Amino acid sequence: MILQALDIAYSYPDGTSALKGLSLSVGRARRLAILGPNGSGKTTLLLHLNGTLKPERGKIRLDGQAVGYQRADLLSWRSQVGLVLQDPDDQLFANSVGEDVGFGPRNAGLDEGRVQEATDWALKSLRISQLAMRPPHALSYGQKKRVAIAGAVAMRPRLLLLDEPSAGLDARGVAHLMALLDHLVEEGMTLVFTTHEVDLALAHADHVALFYQGRVLAAGETLDVLSDEALLREARLKRPWALEVGMKARAKGWLHEEAPLPRTREAAMALLDGAP
Ligand SMILES: Nc1ncnc2c1ncn2[C@@H]1O[C@H](COP(=O)(O)OP(=O)(O)OP(=O)(O)O)[C@@H](O)[C@H]1O
Ligand SMILES: [Mg+2]
Repeated sequence: MILQALDIAYSYPDGTSALKGLSLSVGRARRLAILGPNGSGKTTLLLHLNGTLKPERGKIRLDGQAVGYQRADLLSWRSQVGLVLQDPDDQLFANSVGEDVGFGPRNAGLDEGRVQEATDWALKSLRISQLAMRPPHALSYGQKKRVAIAGAVAMRPRLLLLDEPSAGLDARGVAHLMALLDHLVEEGMTLVFTTHEVDLALAHADHVALFYQGRVLAAGETLDVLSDEALLREARLKRPWALEVGMKARAKGWLHEEAPLPRTREAAMALLDGAP
């Protein structure tokens, strides 16, 4: 385990109780989806996972060690755990994309050559090298989102936290972004993303933690969690569309009992090709 949240409770200053004794473990080089309906505490938990919020009760552990909240502790924590907020406008501030993406490395005290290297690599990883000189405010929402992610990956964090990565992107934009993130995971990065979309979790997560009302209802392998009808109903979510098709195809005998269930739209549609 890299990062663990243990029995976290948190209320906002106005008294709203957002997390009610929540525990979660994040493993290495994995893709974990934090799945839950609106208001279930997903964003609040992410803000605890990089030290932006401090729990009222409970602990965060990084590599088995309880984290500290002094300036130096937070700097080291955040260089290992990057956070990308849901709205890129909350994150971007520099006059050019290149400057924005290079902010983290520069702030960490790297020399200009290394800053440039880190910036170029991050822009390339997100396929936005051509935007380097543009002012962030003049970009499309999807482009801004990539710039915000590039800014986080420029620090080469071991773990990247993304709040609602698909929000505001069109279907192709989502597929493209998730493929780029999958590539970073193949290179060893761990990905944690929040979503209320069961289909996104099915296609892009190895593990799912199901949130409801500030608690974890269930956590486990994606297929196990997302095929559990009763659990999903309890969390006010529906079974993913592709799984629904796959299970129906099994029941009808078009899909062999042992054959894997489809996890994407393409795989589900391919099944229908085999239907009588
Ligand atoms: N700044 C805030 N002040 C007071 N209450 C807040 C604040 N931010 C969130 N909350 C409350 O905390 C609870 C959890 O909110 P949170 O934003 O973590 O949910 P979420 O799962 O991310 O929802 P969504 O899917 O809508 O993004 C909700 O009841 C919400 O009203
Ligand atoms: Mg949220």
